[in-house]
Amino acid sequence: MRALTVTPGHANSLRVAEVPDPTPGPRDLLVDGLALGVCGTDKEIARGEYGWAPSGSDHLVLGHESLGRVAQAPAGSRFSPGDLVVGVVRRPDPVPCGACGAGEFDMCRNGRYTERGIKEIHGYGSERWTVAEDYAIRLDGRLTDVGVLMEPTSVVAKAWEQVWRTGRRAWFEPRRVLVTGAGPIGLLAALLGTQYDLDVHVLDRVTSGPKPALVRSLGATYHHDPVDQVMSRLTPDVVIEATGAGSVVIEAMSGTTPYGIVCLTGVSPAGRRMSVDAGAINRELVLENDVVLGSVNANIRHYEQAADALAKADPRWLASLITRRVPLSEAPTAFEDDDDVKVVLTLT
Ligand code: BGC
Repeated sequence: MRALTVTPGHANSLRVAEVPDPTPGPRDLLVDGLALGVCGTDKEIARGEYGWAPSGSDHLVLGHESLGRVAQAPAGSRFSPGDLVVGVVRRPDPVPCGACGAGEFDMCRNGRYTERGIKEIHGYGSERWTVAEDYAIRLDGRLTDVGVLMEPTSVVAKAWEQVWRTGRRAWFEPRRVLVTGAGPIGLLAALLGTQYDLDVHVLDRVTSGPKPALVRSLGATYHHDPVDQVMSRLTPDVVIEATGAGSVVIEAMSGTTPYGIVCLTGVSPAGRRMSVDAGAINRELVLENDVVLGSVNANIRHYEQAADALAKADPRWLASLITRRVPLSEAPTAFEDDDDVKVVLTLT
């Protein structure tokens, strides 16, 4: 079968290669791959800047935003052939640490977790794949066209859960949220914000392309002026930061309302230095009981929350996030930078 492979650490090593068909273990589902989302992490791996091959292998099958249809399930499984499924990305570390031992592998403490298509386990970028049924999530059959958005939605569901849990330290009735960045994570964060009945605002640099209309059709407000101005105009209770851009992160941290919560979800490259007034930022965080928190990955509970959020969303809006579909044979073109929101590889 064909698979999308890379040699981690080597730029320009992305290939569509022939690899052996997977053999399911006793508790594994055998899945026909339908679609694979491409995100910034995949592009970083393709540039040779991130990612680890499984031990004993020189290559990594790429892909963690999965969607497939069960071809074969073990006897007595809660899955049946024909079910629409996604595979969970992360696996607990082998020790395991306390968090992984409690099923919260997204909060792994020792960094020895593994991730499909990213860190030491092959991903879902192949015509067929296997997944342990405990790490498979069934999706509503009506989500065939958009179920590939499940993994980024799980990341966003976790981020929102962290915000709610953090808010409940004290009285918390947020009304307004600012999402910085209108990529897939930002737009899905905005979607969940509208599902919570919040007044949702999204900030991005662009004034053309699909993003402004995608925001407005959610009933949210689109902004493209400088972040400090937007922050002082809106005084949001919550900021979900999805650009990873240092200047946006610092402005978001320094401009919150009292008891503000800033949730950082963007992974930035190291080495971009800027000068900041650390004293002023510290003073404001302390005097306002503000919180800045980082959030990555998702556990099974968040995938279930994401499945509910997708089932509740307007399928036409979800479909319009996918601005390009590329056949596996042309996979490298999906990694070229463009004005797309979400590019998806078709695996069938
Ligand atoms: C994925 C996460 C993963 C993170 C770090 C992101 O792109 O969505 O599941 O934990 O990269 O590897």
